[in-house]
Amino acid sequence: MTTSPDMAAFVAGLPKAELHVHLQGAASVPTILELSRRYPEAGLPLEEDELREFYRFRDFDHFLSVYMAVNELVRTPDDVQALVEGLGRDLAAVNVRYAEVTVTADSHLLAGMDPAGVAEALTAGRAATLARTGVELAYTYDINGAHGLPGAERTISWAERFPAEGSVGFGLGGPEAGAPRTAYAEAFTRARDIGLASVPHAGETTGPQSIRDSLDALGAVRIGHGIAAAQDADLMAELVERDVVLEVCPTSNVCTRAVDSLEAHPFTILREAGVRVTLNTDDPGMFDTDLNREYEIAHEVFGVDRSGLVDLARESVRASLAVQPVKDRILAEIDDYAAATQPE
Ligand code: HPA
Ligand code: ZN
Repeated sequence: MTTSPDMAAFVAGLPKAELHVHLQGAASVPTILELSRRYPEAGLPLEEDELREFYRFRDFDHFLSVYMAVNELVRTPDDVQALVEGLGRDLAAVNVRYAEVTVTADSHLLAGMDPAGVAEALTAGRAATLARTGVELAYTYDINGAHGLPGAERTISWAERFPAEGSVGFGLGGPEAGAPRTAYAEAFTRARDIGLASVPHAGETTGPQSIRDSLDALGAVRIGHGIAAAQDADLMAELVERDVVLEVCPTSNVCTRAVDSLEAHPFTILREAGVRVTLNTDDPGMFDTDLNREYEIAHEVFGVDRSGLVDLARESVRASLAVQPVKDRILAEIDDYAAATQPE
């Protein structure tokens, strides 16, 4: 199937929510070039074609090493705020009304930023985005599995001490192999105690066990990626039973080589098993995608029709950690849009 101009326009106008997008990975190519020219000593590409080449990933570990290198370009709370505001503008342009942005606060702390300043930058960037675009931003803080328990401690104690406005979730990213989800149970308990929902990455590059561990040890209400569940019918049944939502990011999985191709992506297997699935971008600046493109892929490659795309948009709102009035407002906008765009 191809996306007709009509369908592309339909997707573009559809109000949507984005539940899985990393702050640094979202930064557009021009934004990263601006930072790499500001900090040339970081040795990152200074020209667009070189940066695009730099963003061709050999495998997941290579992706993570590039991701960490790009992190070196974010040095001050003002840089953090600029990334938030840039992301807010990009989200508004694709009709995202609400987004949960994953912030790896520990990277900023390790770069020597003032901990209170990081939280203030997030609060200010969120307020500026709301005022300028109407897009509601919320934040999830992910532990980087590469930094082990000390990184977990730094992340949760920062979230406890410096709560930015809009803080809603707590996650676990970076490498899955060698970072067993169970090791992080204590940090997630503390996160839940301060009202942050558990939304770890799991089942992206390792098997179903990482998803089971996330449910049992981390109290996950959603799973970042979770595509390995498709290998295990019992686990899919458990996800349905527990009403756990997957944050699926198709283009990301191809770019990091977590799956061989879009055609080989288990999106349809998961949905046919009744698992709640949302569409997301993960790192749109690095993967040259946006949320409209992911919806187009759902249509083109996974055969989802217009009403299925509307259902996916509704699911992203329902599965979000937004307060009910925000959910109700966006769901009503989606309903109005669906009614107004009914083909005759
Ligand atoms: N997985 C783990 N860590 C990440 C990802 C991801 O998809 N994106 C950015 N950091
Ligand atoms: Zn991710």
